[in-house]
Amino acid sequence: MSLMSGFEKIVRQGEPLAMYTWFQLGGPAEYFAEPETVDELIALVRRCHEEKVPARLLGQGSNILVRDEGAPGLVIRLAAPAFCEIRVEGRSIVAGGGALLGRVVTTAVHGGLAGLETLIGIPGTVGGALHGNAGTRGGNIGQWTLQATVVTASGEVCQRGNDELIFGYRESSLDDLAILEVRCDLEEDDPRQLAQRMQRHWIAKKASQPMGHQCAGCVFKNPRGSSAGELIDRAGLKGTRIGGAVVSDRHANFIIAEPECTSQDVLRLIELVRSQVHDRMGIELKLELEVW
Ligand code: EPU
Repeated sequence: MSLMSGFEKIVRQGEPLAMYTWFQLGGPAEYFAEPETVDELIALVRRCHEEKVPARLLGQGSNILVRDEGAPGLVIRLAAPAFCEIRVEGRSIVAGGGALLGRVVTTAVHGGLAGLETLIGIPGTVGGALHGNAGTRGGNIGQWTLQATVVTASGEVCQRGNDELIFGYRESSLDDLAILEVRCDLEEDDPRQLAQRMQRHWIAKKASQPMGHQCAGCVFKNPRGSSAGELIDRAGLKGTRIGGAVVSDRHANFIIAEPECTSQDVLRLIELVRSQVHDRMGIELKLELEVW
C-alpha cells in the first residue's frame, strides 16, 4: 500500500514549501498534508509509521529554513480549525497546537490572565512555540505550561504532564511528532493593565527587531551570558551579504531574504557569520533556526 492510497483528498505530492515559511524560500515537500480532523491526522501518522515514511510538522514556518532541494517524506500542517481552537477555562488557557501564539496571548490578556503578555510579537504556532520554548528576556511559554496533548511518531495520543515536561533555553523535552493541545495555567490580573503591558512589549520588540515576512526569528541562540546579535554586530557583520541574503542592519541576529535570495545564500551567510564570530571572538554560535 502506498502512503497516498485512501488519503488522496488530503495528501499532495511535490507541494512547494516556500509559501508556508517566513523566509519564503526552499523547495517542495515530497508529500504534504493538511488534515481536517484529529482522526485523519492519526490515521495518516500511522500510515507513515507503517510505510516507514519520515513525517514532520510544519507550524507557521517562522523558525524554519527549507533547503532549495526541498524536504523528503511527509510534511504535515495543522492549520484546519480543529487544531486551532483557543478557550479560557478558569485561570487556564487551552489552545490547539496549530493556533497562532499571538492570538493565544491576546485572548489571555483580554480574559484578564497574566503571564504570556511578554510573548507578544513572537510569530508562529503554540505548538512550535512550546517545542522550542519560545520566549523573551521577560519569560518563556514553558514556565506557564502544565500539560500538553501530543501525537507520537507511531500515531498514539498521549498526555505529557507537568512531571514530564522539561523546558530549557529555547528547548523542551517535547519531541513528539505533533502537539495537539497545550494548557497554560496563568494568573488573574486587570485586563487593562495587562493590555498596556502587552503593548509596551510589542513596542520594544518592534523598535529593536526587524519584523514581518522575508526574515524568520533570531538565527542563532544566545551563548551563555551574551547576545549573539551583539557579537555579530561587534564583529562588524551588519549588512554583510551573500546573494540575496543580508545580515539585518536593525538587529544582527536576523537575516533578511531579499527578492532572488535562495536557501543556499542564507546557509552560506550563516556559515560566514559563524566562522567570523568564531575567528574574532572564539565563540561558537549555535543555530536557533531549524534547517530542513
Ligand atoms: N545588540 C547589539 N547589536 C545588535 C543587536 C543587539 O549591540 O545588532 C545589543 C543590544 O543593544 C543589547 C543586547 O545586544 O544591549 C541584547 O539585545 P536584545 O535586547 O535585542 O536581545 P537579544 O539577546 O539579541 C533576545 C532573544 C530574542 C528576544 C529578545 C528580547 C535570543 C537568541 N534572542 O535577543 O528572541 O526577542 O531577547 O527579549 O534568545 C528569538 O529567539 O528568535 C528572538 C528574537
